Amino acid sequence: MGGAVAETPDFCPPPLSPRMLPFASCLPGSLLFWAFLLLLLGAASPQDSEEPDSYTECTDGYEWDADSQHCRDVNECLTIPEACKGEMKCINHYGGYLCLPRSAAVISDLHGEGPPPPVPAAQHPNPCPSGYEPDEQESCVDVDECTQALHDCRPSQDCHNLPGSYQCTCPDGYRKIGPECVDIDECRYRYCQHRCVNLPGSFRCQCEPGFQLGPNNRSCVDVNECDMGAPCEQRCFNSYGTFLCRCNQGYELHRDGFSCSDIDECSYSSYLCQYRCVNEPGRFSCHCPQGYQLLATRLCQDIDECETGAHQCSEAQTCVNFHGGYRCVDTNRCVEPYVQVSDNRCLCPASNPLCREQPSSIVYRYMSITSERSVPADVFQIQATSVYPGAYNAFQIRAGNTQGDFYIRQINNVSAMLVLARPVTGPREYVLDLEMVTMNSLMSYRASSVLRLTVFVGAYTF
Ligand SMILES: *[C@@H]1O[C@H](CO)[C@@H](O)[C@H](O)[C@H]1NC(C)=O
Ligand SMILES: *[C@@H]1O[C@H](CO)[C@@H](O)[C@H](O)[C@H]1NC(C)=O
Repeated sequence: MGGAVAETPDFCPPPLSPRMLPFASCLPGSLLFWAFLLLLLGAASPQDSEEPDSYTECTDGYEWDADSQHCRDVNECLTIPEACKGEMKCINHYGGYLCLPRSAAVISDLHGEGPPPPVPAAQHPNPCPSGYEPDEQESCVDVDECTQALHDCRPSQDCHNLPGSYQCTCPDGYRKIGPECVDIDECRYRYCQHRCVNLPGSFRCQCEPGFQLGPNNRSCVDVNECDMGAPCEQRCFNSYGTFLCRCNQGYELHRDGFSCSDIDECSYSSYLCQYRCVNEPGRFSCHCPQGYQLLATRLCQDIDECETGAHQCSEAQTCVNFHGGYRCVDTNRCVEPYVQVSDNRCLCPASNPLCREQPSSIVYRYMSITSERSVPADVFQIQATSVYPGAYNAFQIRAGNTQGDFYIRQINNVSAMLVLARPVTGPREYVLDLEMVTMNSLMSYRASSVLRLTVFVGAYTF
């Protein structure tokens, strides 16, 4: 903008909005024009305007004509679409234009027929159609009304230049209501699956907690919280819109819903383990006392140290296993006048006078029982090894039963049963001499033999 003479306040830019300025007027190029204006408006003070000597740039409403080397008036009535609104008619004038009622007859006298204005000196009518103007090569080029502010679009509208004209359109997301563009409330159209937030010119979809916007920015897809650092201590299960924490076996979910605490299985039942329950993180285990080993998961089984070779018995000893342990016994337990006849048998030779009142043989046997057996309990059966026709056998506990914890029940004349009469608690050990007295029918023969039975009572009920 601006030219050599653009100092006086009389110059004004071409009307931005001719519709709002039906009497838009600019650039009083001549006194004649001013006289005309005074005539129209009735009151104004005349002002001087200086004539420039030459132009290199043109003021508003003029354009440079290279041929004539002068500024040439622009016919705004042609270049500005709807330069005047409605009933008003557009009157081009030097350096500007006027909108006047069609009935203003006085204008027509002046319009186009008045003497040429002294300034600018040479004016050529625009030879181009509306919205075009000649360039240096005298061909018509489009006038960009939008950049040259020759449009009447509202601030709410976008101006689009078109060949020969321009267009006022609403921006995306706006709709023309009356003269103005107003925001479209897209949320009314249910574009969003969950929630919608209207924004000037657009909208945004939002999702409920546990969901996130899908690729189309409208639908909501479940968030897999488990993949995104859900605070589950042990296991996480994604579900629609949320997630669930679970715990491994042996743990229970804390009230907070996230953390897991160990379950003390041992406190639930005293029958989980035969001997001792030991709680561990996420599980429990059963322990057995010394001399026992775990059978399956909860039972304790005696370890036969004599079988496993875990014993420390010497060559001259025999290993005897019992519940919870073992014993090394001398293989030769025979004491004078007895002599050893086999691993566990001692014999008192009849030829030895010392043997006359002694049992003719002593057989060593060992057995093991558990504590607190229900009673009466058959624990050992004694059987005569040799049966003589007409002979009779009687059985008795000869020694070792001072408390009366055992008794003998005769089964027939060749066998008897050792019965535990009272519940006993180990660890404890009995050495019982079970005597078998053999008599013939005439009672003329009497022989005694002893079974020396060691009964180990284990410390436990298993
Ligand atoms: C969704 O929104 C994002 C971020 O605003 C954008 O980059 C993307 O192009 C949008 N996708 C669609 C399908 O509109
Ligand atoms: C004892 O039993 C044996 C064998 O059964 C038999 O021969 C014998 O006659 C029995 N003695 C008596 C006294 O019943």
